[in-house]
Amino acid sequence: SVRKIYKIASIPADGIGPEVIRAGIQVLNKLASVLGEFEFHFNDFEWGSKVYKKTGQYIPEGGLDSLRDYNAILFGAVGDPDVPDHISLWSLRLAICQPFQQYANLRPTRVLRGTSSPLRNCPPGSLDWLIVRENTEGEYAGQGGRTHIGTPWEVATEVAIFSRHGIERLMRFAFACAQKRHRRKITVVTKSNAQRNGLVLWDEVAAAVARDFPDVEMDKMLVDAMTVRMTLHPETIDTMVATNLHADILSDLAAALAGSIGVAPTSNLDPSRQYPSMFEPIHGSAGDIAGKGIANPIATFWTAAEMIRWLGHEGAADGLMHCVENVCERGIKTRDLGGSANTKEVTEAVCNEVESVL
Ligand code: NAI
Ligand code: MG
Repeated sequence: SVRKIYKIASIPADGIGPEVIRAGIQVLNKLASVLGEFEFHFNDFEWGSKVYKKTGQYIPEGGLDSLRDYNAILFGAVGDPDVPDHISLWSLRLAICQPFQQYANLRPTRVLRGTSSPLRNCPPGSLDWLIVRENTEGEYAGQGGRTHIGTPWEVATEVAIFSRHGIERLMRFAFACAQKRHRRKITVVTKSNAQRNGLVLWDEVAAAVARDFPDVEMDKMLVDAMTVRMTLHPETIDTMVATNLHADILSDLAAALAGSIGVAPTSNLDPSRQYPSMFEPIHGSAGDIAGKGIANPIATFWTAAEMIRWLGHEGAADGLMHCVENVCERGIKTRDLGGSANTKEVTEAVCNEVESVL
């Protein structure tokens, strides 16, 4: 068969971003050479806070267009102590997600073999979730403003936008994801008791979409109650779909309950495949550990697995995760997982595992 060639734009950006992306590229290249089924051509983009502080821009003129020809984007993390977080986030990450209509943000969460949950009652297999987050509108639509700035009567608005089109395409995607998982179960997370406009529309569209997926079992839950259910009854949940803000918060909780933010991956998908999708670890630039070589690269390895899954190589993705879990099981883990290995040691162990197992 023909070896597929993928052009990948890598944007390591800030803090531990470059450390974990370097590790991810190493593992992806190893996987490619061992399997022989695909090949990656990486192109590094130097975008990030360092360049911003010199030029005043995160994405240079024409930069967004130059990403369009890639099969996928591999993103590290953005965030710098000298730049307000809303500037860095909106100028780089959201500046790609929104115009590229990466409306579905997927966050698989489970307790990896060889790692453990901080929950007391969490036997293997009982925490295995897929969070589907709306990624282009809602509370992060960017609508609002400030007037009377600096005066005692200053006002600021942050308007959440919920469009029927935006909700429906997300719900259809989420239900289709739930249908592909063996439990075929989805929880629609909402807050329609208090947010009586946008979230009531959210519920109505969910109910209408549910009728087209009779084989998917749906339930509905208020977001505050959802945090309790995730903590006390993780085994009752499979797929969850939630708004931009709600899912942002729930997925950090999910990552912590599953063991560490250092293993959690995320995919920003344009399901129409008109634009490249973007794959990144959930964690940020982690200034407290940057430059020390101790960041956990597993979030990026899992992210890499999700990227190759999206490119159509399901078996390779599962194979990579199998190797990652073997390495965890052998105790080669970074500090956030209770081990003492550094980034390089975990990366080399995963490469060796790929070489010997796949
Ligand atoms: P963070 O995820 O960077 O760090 C939170 C804690 O988790 C820190 O103690 C850090 O050391 C630890 N941690 C994170 N990733 C780790 C890894 N791979 N291995 C081991 N430990 C890890 O979140 P924080 O501190 O809230 O934000 C720091 C900066 O990152 C801010 O500027 C923020 O805006 C930005 N950020 C960027 C994101 C992105 O680019 N998508 C996402 C979240 C935050
Ligand atoms: Mg977050």
